[in-house]
Amino acid sequence: MMFGRILQFFRAVTAKVSVDDGKYISAHLNAEEQKIFFAMSVADQAHSLRTAYTIERLVIEDKRGVDKEFLIRCALLHDVGRKAGDLTIRGKIFAVLVTTFAPRFAERLELNGNRALYVYHHHAELGAQKLQRLGLFKEAKIVAKHHAPPKPNDPPELKLLRMADNEN
Ligand SMILES: [Fe+2]
Ligand SMILES: [Fe+2]
Repeated sequence: MMFGRILQFFRAVTAKVSVDDGKYISAHLNAEEQKIFFAMSVADQAHSLRTAYTIERLVIEDKRGVDKEFLIRCALLHDVGRKAGDLTIRGKIFAVLVTTFAPRFAERLELNGNRALYVYHHHAELGAQKLQRLGLFKEAKIVAKHHAPPKPNDPPELKLLRMADNEN
């Protein structure tokens, strides 16, 4: 778990988006969707791309006949609530540390208006609201729940998105 976190930070500071990634993004997202995608930090863009590439693999293994194109869009857009500037790498490190080691203190800071903690904890709902504004109601429903505690009757799309997200 701790190693995974360290790997995440390492990836976050070395992240980049390649030409092929750019082609992949324009193949799956329209202009409006690309706008909210590129409003994320490069680290979150790279994370969302890796999540989508993992989805491609999981969908092949999954036999439930889920809508692959829909899931790729969900993966690319699942963290759009984390807009760059609202959640910097420094802000995210701070949010992870204080939430892990001083959860009550984190709660108090958030109630007192700490933006990094608020975005860190509520980016799923914030992202879903952005998607709703673009009329992407189906995607919004999945994205809103990507950090919610898993339930047995969760749709397969949500389960796959969570698996892919956790791997990346
Ligand atoms: Fe997330
Ligand atoms: Fe994520």
